[in-house]
Amino acid sequence: MHKNKKLLIAANWKMTPATVSEARKKAFLFREIAKRYMRAPKAKASLQVLVCPPFPFISELKAAFKGSPALVGAQDVSEFDGGSKTGEVASTMLQSLGVSHVVVGHSERRAAGDTDERVSIKLGQIIRTNTHAILCIGEDKRDEEGEYLNAIKAQLKASLARLSNTDFSRVVIAYEPVWAIGRTDNVALSGHDLHQMVIYIRKMLRDLYNDSIATSMKILYGGSVTPENAEDIIWNGEVDGLLIGRAGFDPKTYEEICRIIALPTHANVIMRQATIKKMTTIKNNKKNPKKEKSKEKTVRSMKRVKKSSKPKHR
Ligand code: PGA
Repeated sequence: MHKNKKLLIAANWKMTPATVSEARKKAFLFREIAKRYMRAPKAKASLQVLVCPPFPFISELKAAFKGSPALVGAQDVSEFDGGSKTGEVASTMLQSLGVSHVVVGHSERRAAGDTDERVSIKLGQIIRTNTHAILCIGEDKRDEEGEYLNAIKAQLKASLARLSNTDFSRVVIAYEPVWAIGRTDNVALSGHDLHQMVIYIRKMLRDLYNDSIATSMKILYGGSVTPENAEDIIWNGEVDGLLIGRAGFDPKTYEEICRIIALPTHANVIMRQATIKKMTTIKNNKKNPKKEKSKEKTVRSMKRVKKSSKPKHR
């Protein structure tokens, strides 16, 4: 991966937060993160912050991000243009709100009924309205025979079926193995395994289309990304960014991921964290002389106990 590459760090807020005021508060924090990591000095990469909130919060986020490099996306779109389709949101509506990216084919939408066919129609709607699409693909589970690779190929082929070669510049692929989404046991793909998948996806694109599409397509990774695994995923997985679920609900955790990716080495980050922790403890103790005094008292009484328990020589 080249130094100073621009990485897309997309936060999928899913069905959170609960209220518009919470969304507004978070948005202002993401706005600051976007400014900080757009061109952080000495950074390995510049980061493009993208937040995909639930539909009702899109305008609020657009207002909060005004004048900042942070982008607002959407989590889904209708396959229809408009008209009598209760509950649907058309791509033209999202375009008019200034949405830059729309996630399509997320496994949680596929589980709710989106087929490859419907995903390909939605993708067409997004492209038609000059918006970028984040197309999610990924296997439900893995098998030793490698059948899951064929499943991904079929998914990719069917989802991209309606696009012409010129449309591809507006598509980003998010490789999200379904078995790795929403896990609490640190089961995300390793950077090494991810790199194999990225090579495989590019090979499929080369077979299906051409060399230029295969090499220029941006590929993100999604599925239980955390501050612990983000560095390995980005720098060993050779991806162009992340699609983050739960770790992106909290601006602090999201920022931690950005910092770990952008700063020169992981060791550096750990050192910085240790220094900050040490300094905070010193500061807190200074602020709290009572705590210091009680610590001294404990040490004195321990010394007394030690002395009295020594055998007495006559
Ligand atoms: P997760 O979700 O990071 O919470 O696993 C990822 C996603 O659903 O895109």
